[in-house]
Amino acid sequence: MNSQNAVELHDVQMHFNMSKEKLENLKEYFIKMVTHKLMYEDYTALDGVSFEVKKGDIFGIVGLNGSGKSTTLKLISGILSPTRGTVETQGTIAPLIELGAGFDMELTARENIYLNGSVLGYSRKYMDQKFDEIVEFSEMREFLDTPMKNYSSGMVARIGFAIATMTKPDILIVDEILAVGDFHFQEKCENRISGLMGGDTTVIIVSHAIEQIERLCKHCVWLEKGRVKMIGNAKEVCEAYKST
Ligand SMILES: Nc1ncnc2c1ncn2[C@@H]1O[C@H](COP(=O)(O)OP(=O)(O)O)[C@@H](O)[C@H]1O
Ligand SMILES: [Mg+2]
Repeated sequence: MNSQNAVELHDVQMHFNMSKEKLENLKEYFIKMVTHKLMYEDYTALDGVSFEVKKGDIFGIVGLNGSGKSTTLKLISGILSPTRGTVETQGTIAPLIELGAGFDMELTARENIYLNGSVLGYSRKYMDQKFDEIVEFSEMREFLDTPMKNYSSGMVARIGFAIATMTKPDILIVDEILAVGDFHFQEKCENRISGLMGGDTTVIIVSHAIEQIERLCKHCVWLEKGRVKMIGNAKEVCEAYKST
């Protein structure tokens, strides 16, 4: 791949097998399976998607529900593998995909910060150094020793965002996370993302709030039914998207 790029997708196709029928129980499932009567419907979530994201770019993905935005982010994060085509990335990736993914909700925030750090490949020593900064940014100090199952979605988002951005990944992936939580925290997240601009970190964002994409992103791709409808300057793509 081009050394200027953080991410390259070439002609990516993503199929999902969805079971057509509602099976009542496991026994019914096994009977259908051994008699080869299980019917699957092949669903194409992405169809020939190609685009590149330059290193250091703040890149948005817009599109209606079901257009394939989250699937694209999961492919880039390596959570899914494409049915066809290639997905290449350069550098470390911190994916903020689903709220709470990567957290053990039975554990406290303190424990989860270290757990996440080790999952992302950081040493205990490095996390010790970053710990206060993470806690400071999340504004969750009083709740550090509370199991995260007692957190609201906004509180989970605060911790998740604080960890993901504090550990300085090469590529930060944010799926709709900025939409949870209060206005004050959203603004803090936006400022932090803006602060990453012009640096080495590449940010890829999906948000329902199209103004957020317009404000933050330099470039943007518009997905429609699993295909690239338009790609280019974020303002232009968002304008076109809004006027449909
Ligand atoms: N694991 C899965 N199994 C089956 N279908 C899926 C799966 N994940 C996503 N899809 C389908 O793929 C399409 C695209 O989904 P998604 O990428 O989540 O869209 P978006 O994030 O743009 O709303 C949707 O129709 C969705 O139902
Ligand atoms: Mg989605």
